[in-house]
Amino acid sequence: MPIDVAAARADTPACEGQVFLDNAGSALSPSRVTRTVIDYIEREQQIGGYAAMEEAQDELLAVTASAGALVGVPADQVALQTSATAAWLRAFGSIPLQAGDRILTTKAEYASNVLPMLQAARRAGASVEFIPDGSDGTVDPAALATMLDERVRAVAITHAASQNGLVADANGIGEVLRRSGSTAWYLLDACQSLGQLPVDMTEIGADFIAATGRKFLRGPRGTGFLAVSPRVLNVLEPVPIDMFGTAWDGDQGYELSPTASRYQSFEMSYSAMLGLGAAIDYALTIGIDQIHARINMLATTLRSELAAIPNVRVLDRGSQKSGIVVFSCPGADSWSAVRELRAHGVTVTAITRPTNPPDVDSYESSCVLRASPHIFNTEDDLAALVNAL
Ligand SMILES: Cc1ncc(COP(=O)(O)O)c(C=O)c1O
Repeated sequence: MPIDVAAARADTPACEGQVFLDNAGSALSPSRVTRTVIDYIEREQQIGGYAAMEEAQDELLAVTASAGALVGVPADQVALQTSATAAWLRAFGSIPLQAGDRILTTKAEYASNVLPMLQAARRAGASVEFIPDGSDGTVDPAALATMLDERVRAVAITHAASQNGLVADANGIGEVLRRSGSTAWYLLDACQSLGQLPVDMTEIGADFIAATGRKFLRGPRGTGFLAVSPRVLNVLEPVPIDMFGTAWDGDQGYELSPTASRYQSFEMSYSAMLGLGAAIDYALTIGIDQIHARINMLATTLRSELAAIPNVRVLDRGSQKSGIVVFSCPGADSWSAVRELRAHGVTVTAITRPTNPPDVDSYESSCVLRASPHIFNTEDDLAALVNAL
């Protein structure tokens, strides 16, 4: 069933009176998400944080179940996190590395994932290698197959890149790892894909999925989650551990939680986490396939409208593309263009080099922008951006 756009807009009153096209940055939340957060904060104000937490125990447990449902795993494979970066770092930090180990990733990987890989490799005497792209410009599973050996300890892929509309073939990568019998740990950064693309962790074969709340899932800032495979729970322990997910025996020993809670910490904004749960439930109720179809339609339309503007270049590559539309336009710098567009009531964001130097350098433009529609956007919104440009 197609999305009821009027209902989606009514659920997001802030989308009226502006053209908001930065859902890959920090999306507009549905009202019920914001209401959930405010209600809980008020409850904390009334009875104190610990009593409010106790009172909301069932709802808080339901957030991990919702996150699990989103990626097709049970709640005990999910740990709440404060960001995708926090989730990814905890995941990667739990993989033991030795001299000679190899970590495989791609040039499209998010810089905050590449940097810890480079640092850890330097410290351990391991190496970071980039899997080549195929002819469509996205990572080539067949190339990965030729690189695998027993020294490959981790394979890290960003599902939907931040700086490009490309979508990596996460299933293809998982299939190659499965067929080869590799014991490498497969980390999937699904920060930009969750909420706009169907993601089935078991089908993909990922060991870790890192997620944020505030992007296509439309949750509050400061939220995210990490989903882990049963193999992770059988073999790995986070580094370091804390008393939320591990019990100290009072002497030299400790026991890890059998669940993914070993990757979670005690303190966080529980109001925000409940907001995350509300955002995931909202997306699941509408249906990820339906959300995907609408975002894909809007992004495809926008790409063709942008391509028709003289001096505007659409930069997205890959055979499958996400709701992230990246383009260059004449202009001295990206942020000035963002401000000018905002003055016309249109919100997009700038793509800058720190996110991913290889892609941004290849764009050879001083002005690179990203527009990212969601279900509440309309074709009129796209036309407003095109006209403003
Ligand atoms: C692909 C990707 N991974 C990770 C992150 C980091 O997310 P967070 O800010 O929640 O840590 C981003 C943020 O833009 C991203 O686009």
